[in-house]
Amino acid sequence: MIYLKNVNKYYGKTKVLDNISFEINNKDIFGIVGHSGAGKSTLLRCLNGLEEFDDGEINILGKNLKDLSSKDIRILRKDVSMVFQYFNLMERSNVFENIAFPLKIWGYDKTFINNRVLELLEIIELKDKINEYPKNLSGGQKQRIGIARALALNPKILLCDEATSALDPKTTKSILELLLKINYDMGITIVMVTHQMEVVKSICNRMLLLDKGKVQTIGNTDKLFLESPNSIKLLLGEEETLPLSGINIKLFFSDENSEKSIITQMSRTLNIDISIVWGKLEKFRSNVLGSLVINIDENDMENVMKFLNKNNIHCEVL
Ligand SMILES: Nc1ncnc2c1ncn2[C@@H]1O[C@H](COP(=O)(O)OP(=O)(O)OP(=O)(O)O)[C@@H](O)[C@H]1O
Ligand SMILES: [Mg+2]
Repeated sequence: MIYLKNVNKYYGKTKVLDNISFEINNKDIFGIVGHSGAGKSTLLRCLNGLEEFDDGEINILGKNLKDLSSKDIRILRKDVSMVFQYFNLMERSNVFENIAFPLKIWGYDKTFINNRVLELLEIIELKDKINEYPKNLSGGQKQRIGIARALALNPKILLCDEATSALDPKTTKSILELLLKINYDMGITIVMVTHQMEVVKSICNRMLLLDKGKVQTIGNTDKLFLESPNSIKLLLGEEETLPLSGINIKLFFSDENSEKSIITQMSRTLNIDISIVWGKLEKFRSNVLGSLVINIDENDMENVMKFLNKNNIHCEVL
């Protein structure tokens, strides 16, 4: 669906995309995360030809971007549309006109446009705002209009650049639900650039961590978070304070209830004291995953590891 190989891009002498290679699969909700200035927006804008790149290959929907004329790129953008952080609505046009804009540009007739806009308003649940102007809408409503406009031409891929970063947490949640619905019901592949970890955790099945223009980590979101490679930890700003004495072990659970019994069982079976340092449950799309850090006496280490292995608990000594 989307395929990049050894992509490099410079702004002047500064390399902003550094040998980027990865793939996005059909129907993925793919997260691109990284610090400010990492090159996320630049990378996203390369995907629909809004930004040029210096060398390497970008292949979208079977087309090699370097082979396309500017007319071909315009046509490609029907299939690869974009949602922006600050909505980019036309303030002097009402909701209907904003959503109808791309349809008018492509010369669809009036009846088709009317029907399509109504259909889109239904999807974003804002039928009653059809004649309203952007200044009278909330941020969340404006973003819904931005999404409807992006869907107008029936794209196959939706590129979102910080689409929820200007919204409060509750509105963010409702926009994420809408994007999930769009992905699920219409089979649209979504690429989300964001610096909000909650966004990635709640809707992205796969993610890429970009650092100074380089792919640092890529993989399934739940697996990456669960195993928490240091790069993600750093991005999360997650500094774990651990007891200095004894041994700290982090246990991973894929089922909400499993950790409850295992600790008591282990304590009873091995007849040892176990302190719980911290634990957390996190929701990834529909899964709940948990991690728990325990502290034990050095002398109990061997038995504890044996017990955990026997019970198939994934763990890591910190
Ligand atoms: N038009 C431009 N001309 C020159 N340098 C640019 C241009 N656009 C971006 N840059 C530089 O390229 C680098 C990557 O920018 P980019 O906007 O892609 O980062 P980002 O990861 O999206 O950051 P943020 O999270 O702040 O949006 C930055 O160092 C930025 O200063
Ligand atoms: Mg950006």
